[in-house]
Amino acid sequence: MIRWSEKVATGIPKIDVQHRVLIRNFNLLEEHINNRTLNYDELNELLLFLLKYAEWHFGREEECAEETGCYIAELNRKQHEWYIKHFTRLYEEFKAIKDWTEEKLYEWASRVHKELSEWLLKHVIRTDRHIGVCMGKLKPEEVPPPEEDLT
Ligand SMILES: [Fe+2]
Repeated sequence: MIRWSEKVATGIPKIDVQHRVLIRNFNLLEEHINNRTLNYDELNELLLFLLKYAEWHFGREEECAEETGCYIAELNRKQHEWYIKHFTRLYEEFKAIKDWTEEKLYEWASRVHKELSEWLLKHVIRTDRHIGVCMGKLKPEEVPPPEEDLT
């Protein structure tokens, strides 16, 4: 479960709101996994939402970083590109498997949830918060240095 705190805030209201939506939906997926209330259609819907919303949100965030000429803009864009490609591959893998058993579905969903949500959290902390620095919302010393390789 990802908890919202100042440690993940960029200080930019519209970006923070969008991050909260992503976090809430990753947490919802985790809840379904833990409570064993997940089925194929629900997983399909959640994955599609998480993928499409991330795609839309990344575009808005990139505009923000570019408008301010932020030093993180290019790295941010590259990391987004990697994530969308990786997520799309995972989604295609999900759609290609036809013989899902309940066990297999839960195993797959747990692995993918862990991988994608951990990436997101790390990305927000190590990359996105630098946009907050560029926009004067955070002090440079409040943000850990960017991680060049986040794939
Ligand atoms: Fe980002």
